[in-house]
Amino acid sequence: MKKALITGINGQDGSFLSELLLEKGYEVYGILRRKSVVDYGNVTHIKDKIHFIYADMTDVVSLIKALNIAQPDEVYNLAAQSFVATSWDQPIATAEIDAVGVTNILEAIRVVNPKCRYYQASTSEMFGKVQAIPQDENTPFYPRSPYGVAKLYGHWITKNYRESFGLFTCSGILFNHEGERRGKEFVTRKITDTVARIKLGLVDHLELGNMDAKRDWGHSKDYVRAMWLMLQQDEPDDYVVATGETRSVRDFAKTAFDKAGIKVEFSGSGVDEIGTDVNSGKVLVRVNPKFFRPAEVEMLVGNPKKAEEKLGWKREISFDQMVERMVATDITLVKQEMRYASQL
Ligand code: NAP
Ligand code: GDD
Repeated sequence: MKKALITGINGQDGSFLSELLLEKGYEVYGILRRKSVVDYGNVTHIKDKIHFIYADMTDVVSLIKALNIAQPDEVYNLAAQSFVATSWDQPIATAEIDAVGVTNILEAIRVVNPKCRYYQASTSEMFGKVQAIPQDENTPFYPRSPYGVAKLYGHWITKNYRESFGLFTCSGILFNHEGERRGKEFVTRKITDTVARIKLGLVDHLELGNMDAKRDWGHSKDYVRAMWLMLQQDEPDDYVVATGETRSVRDFAKTAFDKAGIKVEFSGSGVDEIGTDVNSGKVLVRVNPKFFRPAEVEMLVGNPKKAEEKLGWKREISFDQMVERMVATDITLVKQEMRYASQL
């Protein structure tokens, strides 16, 4: 039985990866941070199948202990301060977790078991102000946020430990991936959650920032399979994982309303742009400049050719299916919330 240690296990990707590895017969260890309230987050439903270890990416001693307890064959480093907007408010914490934290865990591997294979959660955010379209493994980086800059350090130190010490380290340069377990601060889940609340009459309208921003959106369940495949190869390498399609935030919102049976039409421009319900004439989407970022990544679209050819990876969930799943799940969750509130 293979053993895997996952940092960030209770996050979106950690949960889908845990399910995948458990299905494959792995013994799964996961790192949690100590909080005042015990919270297993996205792995609550499978918590009895996981060995939890309390540790923190900023504390190398705790990571060495975790490696000693788990003795893993594979480490997946998914832990991060992962919300780009927060990285301007907490630039130092972001760097300590997302940049130096990577050195911490690589050092822990070097000390405890240098044969252990390592996956680093790199990101398309490193392409930032894009230097080529589409972006692939050879596209130069130009990060646009403290998060992107910190992740770039994590990316290079992962490569450096491979070249310096011969560790089996891989970076997955993953484009945006979403799903029913996505945090509600990210734009896709914010949209599907608010669409559900509008549909059920709890909220009037949705407020967004830059609706022109374009992203290459896939589903997390497909992307964690690529992480695992990277660690099963004969040689360590870095791979872009993406769909090759790009859509604006406006397109995402339109599709989400569609899936809830609401037709929305956009008009106006800049901060005056609105989205109107074609049937009722009600304004359902407005722009709020508080969601603008100090520097924006305008457009991302990845080329997954290398991952498809070398790993045999292929996504299975289309954009349409993903939005449909997210909207349907949020409608169910909001209905549950309403039932619970009515019983109080
Ligand atoms: P997520 O849902 O925000 O999960 C992040 C995880 O990191 C949480 O479990 C969080 O634990 C943990 N964490 C944060 N700070 C930590 C610390 N100091 N020590 C230990 N754990 C810590 O993120 P995700 O969407 O699953 O993404 C997984 C990874 O992929 C991240 O590294 C992200 O930057 C990267 N990535 C994501 C995407 C995407 O589109 N989703 C794309 C490219 C790369 P708490 O619950 O305690 O906060
Ligand atoms: N969050 C948010 N909220 N974003 C908005 C909003 C809003 O109300 N309105 C417009 N946007 C725009 C943002 O300005 C950005 O251009 C885009 O929507 C996507 O924002 P997020 O969903 O927050 O994701 P992200 O692209 O910044 O970062 C995600 O993807 C990266 C990979 O490219 C995160 O998952 C990162 O951790 C990941 O590395």
